[in-house]
Amino acid sequence: MEIIILPGAEDVAHTAADIIEERLRSGPSVLGLATGSTPLGTYRELIDRHRRDGLSFAAAQAFLLDEYVGLPASHPESYHSVIRREFTDSVDFPADAVHGLDGASYPAAEAARYDASISAAGGVDVQILGIGTDGHIGFNEPMSSLASRTRIKTLTGQTRRDNARFFAGLDEVPEHVLTQGLGTIRQARHLLLLGLGEAKADAVAAAVEGPVAAICPASALQLHPHVTVLLDTPAASKLAHTEYYHYTLGRKPAWQGF
Ligand code: PGA
Repeated sequence: MEIIILPGAEDVAHTAADIIEERLRSGPSVLGLATGSTPLGTYRELIDRHRRDGLSFAAAQAFLLDEYVGLPASHPESYHSVIRREFTDSVDFPADAVHGLDGASYPAAEAARYDASISAAGGVDVQILGIGTDGHIGFNEPMSSLASRTRIKTLTGQTRRDNARFFAGLDEVPEHVLTQGLGTIRQARHLLLLGLGEAKADAVAAAVEGPVAAICPASALQLHPHVTVLLDTPAASKLAHTEYYHYTLGRKPAWQGF
């Protein structure tokens, strides 16, 4: 894991966009996209680069991490709608190249179809991830199997409360979701975990410096050979080894890249 602690959310967005831009400019790419608040700055930065510098997504494909069960794609808070509104409709992503889970389909069949479609696309090159306050990535809640594939999960009360801000009230937040599994996510070639704000500090510390354990699903990333963790200073505030992470970054060989 490479842990990079930056002063603020804008620096995190800029560095994440640099990594994604480098991948896009190297050839046709498969991006793994996350929803939630954390990646929004990165998406805004990529939209700016598309408008300003002609950064193109025309040869790219995208796969979403997860979706609410029971919300039709047309619902404004389905992740199908959210990613189009917040990102892909504002760049030159072909509409049929943005793939998501269908929350209105029979979940077991939809999960199997989705894993097969990721494989058929050649797998994900760069996967953007946020982290939940309970340590989830995607919607893999605590005690998710570290080997899990895409499947239905039941949201914790904490996650439903965290996400109630996107709905008219807590009662409207679906109880079930479809999510790429931890095993599915770990097949992406480069994982980019973004953490912003003090509310994420405990989860980040458990994921990065705690044991690999299903109680903190994001700790499964420790088993992956290429993970970049981009944090603002508040999200990094509970880490014990920040001095070492800054020291390492200061000595990063110029040829190494991310
Ligand atoms: P957030 O959610 O980016 O809205 O904080 C992250 C997550 O739940 O994975």
